[in-house]
Amino acid sequence: MSSQDLRAVTWTAAAEGAAPSLSLIDQTALPHALERLDVTTVDQLIDAIVRLVVRGAPAIGAAGGYGVALAMAQGEREGWDRARLDAEVARVRAARPTAVNLMVCVDRVAPLIGAGLPAVLAEADAIVREDLEANHAMGAFGADWLLKRLSVDRPLRILTHCNTGALATAGWGTALGVIRELHGRGRLEAVYADETRPLLQGARLTAWELAQEGIPHFVQADGAAAGTILRGEVDAAIVGADRIAANGDTANKVGTVGIALACAYAGIPFVVAAPTTTVDLATATGTDIEIELRSEDEVLEWGGVRTAPAGSRGHNPAFDVTPGSLVTGLVTERGVLEVGAGELPESGLS
Ligand code: MRU
Repeated sequence: MSSQDLRAVTWTAAAEGAAPSLSLIDQTALPHALERLDVTTVDQLIDAIVRLVVRGAPAIGAAGGYGVALAMAQGEREGWDRARLDAEVARVRAARPTAVNLMVCVDRVAPLIGAGLPAVLAEADAIVREDLEANHAMGAFGADWLLKRLSVDRPLRILTHCNTGALATAGWGTALGVIRELHGRGRLEAVYADETRPLLQGARLTAWELAQEGIPHFVQADGAAAGTILRGEVDAAIVGADRIAANGDTANKVGTVGIALACAYAGIPFVVAAPTTTVDLATATGTDIEIELRSEDEVLEWGGVRTAPAGSRGHNPAFDVTPGSLVTGLVTERGVLEVGAGELPESGLS
C-alpha cells in the first residue's frame, strides 16, 4: 500500500460480543513497524493522544470526533449518566492543548450525542471526508502558487519540518500534500526533511512516507535548516500548523519559527499549509495560544538512557509560534492567502 492511502484513524463497528473500537496507526512504532492500536475506552484514547500514537492536528481532530462515539459506547456498557459522559468527552477535548482541531472536532460532534450513535458517527465520518478533500485542494493550490511565485523552470527543492502527511491527517497531507502534488507534476527535485527533535516526526514519519513513494529526500538535523536555507540549497519551506490566530500568528512544531526567520533573511517563501479548521478566530494573537510543555525526559534522555547530566533540567515546549508577518503564503482548501510580507521588520521582531 502506498503511504498516500494510509488512514491513521478508522472506526470499527462493534462485532458480536465486542466493543466498537477506534483503530489508530501506532506512530510510535514507525518506521520499523506498521502496526495498529485499537482503543475501546476513553482512558486508552487519551493515553494514545498524549503518547503521540496518533498525532498531527487534523488526525487528533478526527480521533476526537470518534472519541465522542467511543465515550458513548463505553458509557452504554458501564451505565454512565449524562453528566459523566459529558465529563469524559471534556477529558478527550483537553488531551492536548495546542492544536485547535481537537477542540473544534469534539465541539462539532458532541451536540449530536442526544441524536444517538449513528448521528455522531456520521458527523465524525464527515470530518474525515472533508479533511481528505481539503488536503487534495490544498495540494493543488499550494503547488500552483509556489510554481508561479518561484517562476523557475527546474524542479523545486523544498524544506519541511515535522510530519504533515497522511499520518498527521485524514489522508494525503497538508504541507506534505503540496510536496506530493509537486512530485506528481514532475516539479520536485528533493525534500529536505528536518529530523524534528526530540521525537523525530521528520526522520521517522515524513522520511518513511516519502520513502514509501520513492520521493527523493534528505533527512537533516534541525540545526542544519537555517544553514541549508541561507546557502541557497532550498527554494522554499513549507510546514503545517496546529493553530493559526486571527492575526496570522502560527503555532507549529517547535523549531518552525527559526525556519521562518531564516527564510525571511534569505528572501525565500515560508509557506504554511493548513485547513481552515486550524484557523482560530477566537484567538487574537499567537501570545494567546497555549503551548504544550512535554516531559523533561524527552530532551534529557535518548531511548530511555539519560544523556544529560543528572542535575540538568529539561525545557521541552512541543510547539512555537511564528509571527504572521513571516508567513509568505497560507495555503488553505479555499486558496492561498498572502498573509505577511515574509520579511524581517527593520526594528526586529516585536
Ligand atoms: O506533536 P505533533 O507531532 O502532533 O505535532 C504535529 C505538528 O506540529 C504538525 O506540523 C501539525 O500538526 C500539522 S499536521 C498536518
